[in-house]
Amino acid sequence: MCGIVGYIGDKEAFPILMDGLKKLEYRGYDSAGVALLNGKTEIFKKMGKVLELEDFMQSQHPAGKIGIGHTRWATHGEPNDVNAHPQESMGKIFSLVHNGIIENFQQLKEGLIAQGYRFTSETDTEVLVNLIEHCYNQGEEITAETAVQLALSKVTGAYGIAVICSRESDKLIVARNGSPLVIGLGSGEYFVASDSIPIAGLAQHVVYLNDQDMAVLQKDQFTLKNIKNIPVSLTVSALNIESGELDKGPFEHFMLKEIFEQPNTIEQTFKGRLNPEYQEIVLGGLMHVYPRIVNASRIVIIGCGTSWHAALIAEYLIEEYARIPVDVEYASEFRYRKPVLGENDVVFLISQSGETADTLAALRLAREHGVLTLGICNVVGSSLSRETDAGVFIHAGSEIGVASTKAFTAQVTVFVLIALKLARSKGTIQEDEYQTLVHELAEIPAKVNLILQKSEQIKVVALKYLDAINALYLGRGYLFPVALEGALKLKEISYIHAEGYAAGEMKHGPIALVDNNLPVIVIAPQDAWYEKIVSNIQEVKARKGNVIAIITEGDTGIKELLDDKIEIPETHPALAPLLAVIPLQLLAYHIAVLRGCHVDQPRNLAKSVTVE
Ligand code: AGP
Repeated sequence: MCGIVGYIGDKEAFPILMDGLKKLEYRGYDSAGVALLNGKTEIFKKMGKVLELEDFMQSQHPAGKIGIGHTRWATHGEPNDVNAHPQESMGKIFSLVHNGIIENFQQLKEGLIAQGYRFTSETDTEVLVNLIEHCYNQGEEITAETAVQLALSKVTGAYGIAVICSRESDKLIVARNGSPLVIGLGSGEYFVASDSIPIAGLAQHVVYLNDQDMAVLQKDQFTLKNIKNIPVSLTVSALNIESGELDKGPFEHFMLKEIFEQPNTIEQTFKGRLNPEYQEIVLGGLMHVYPRIVNASRIVIIGCGTSWHAALIAEYLIEEYARIPVDVEYASEFRYRKPVLGENDVVFLISQSGETADTLAALRLAREHGVLTLGICNVVGSSLSRETDAGVFIHAGSEIGVASTKAFTAQVTVFVLIALKLARSKGTIQEDEYQTLVHELAEIPAKVNLILQKSEQIKVVALKYLDAINALYLGRGYLFPVALEGALKLKEISYIHAEGYAAGEMKHGPIALVDNNLPVIVIAPQDAWYEKIVSNIQEVKARKGNVIAIITEGDTGIKELLDDKIEIPETHPALAPLLAVIPLQLLAYHIAVLRGCHVDQPRNLAKSVTVE
């Protein structure tokens, strides 16, 4: 998704903007640019990476203490220099960077053309910046912020914008509707960004804009209002990102760093919530609505991508232990269906970023039905965390790699805690089973660590399959969603087509795919489904498929059947996803690196899909 940065203060803006753009690279983009206000506006923008813009700037002399910057993830208009942001109005009065989609841009563009405006780019953003200028030119008394308000009142769609005006060169204007914006509060300076990561280390406190909010930032003044010019109360939050989270350390990629952080992040997720005597599970963020959750007639869990896979595991956990019916929904489908939600239904929305447009739309639809909405989220201050009735933060720390890894295991860990807490409240779990599970959960970080030590062995397996065209992932029970997740990891970072399937579905179609060119990754720990999954392995081998199996340490029974195996420690079946996913993350990572793919910023992908 696009990334926005802005600065106003006493320092030269350019280096601050460039550093911010580098910290936004993880969002995925195809071009970058900055605009600086120094009496006049100077715009520098290029297709390609931030480093290419930086190289280009070596020969320029950027100056100005007010500026805006942007990394563009193309929606309207192909990636090129002209379509890159900032976009400037025809009269060169306004420059603007934008994250989002102006849905009625065509109609607005036609109106502006009729007024004599000419366009150079194919972007919806250029329409917006010219609309602002058009509003500005309607009267001497109209200020830059009034022009922005007037223009935004004519717009439908999502936006996060930062605007500078060459005629009012003491202010930076920002506004948000659907695409997040965070303002870092410095001393005599303000920092603006699409999320809090570029602000880490620059400001201790932030203001998260809400939809329809608009802020006018001047060196010593911060005015917050909405686009109807009504003042809005300021909520200042502490920024709790350690800047150490934002570098790769000894790792080649953020994704590898985050895979290796999982022993710690899983522990951070349950620490303080699972008391040392394993008696009580404490989920403070749910307690004020807990009776409504315990008495839910149904739980709906909504998410996208990896978060949706975690939701599928939550379904198994909650139904098996808490005996509450669960439905799992793709947010992008739910938001357009006419869902039936009863007053005793509880809706969980699961999102690492807390800014996924489809998931936020699903949240808002659920709220329209008046049901209790609960957020399972990783980013404090995100829209999801602020718009749900209650929730649980997964405490995985900033996840920079586009491919989600540590957030997935943290999401699953949270749902283990939720399922067990509900089960205990409802008396639907035997005490010995509860104790077994909570004690085993406490052992998971150490077991994940053992698997991580096999990374080089997994790289050897990756070498055998890096030229595969397709791959099939199979799992049963709690491990069926892990098969889906393993396939997603492979396809999104190595660009190899991969499908995850419930192993029992093999005979209903996928077995037709099997031949000696097809690697079949089978998750086959010694659990209740073991015999069944061994049969599936035999079916694949009978058709010359290559089987890479994730098996329980010490399982010698099926070695002869396997082309490759990766052993994982034994654990409780309900916790197996936390272990089985680790080798699949590493397999995808190593294959992608060996294929020369851009692991942290895979093509076409964004870390947080803040537009539809
Ligand atoms: C996962 O590796 C992908 N990057 C993607 O599927 C992601 O899980 C999805 O976009 C949902 O993101 P969210 O959890 O931030 O809502």
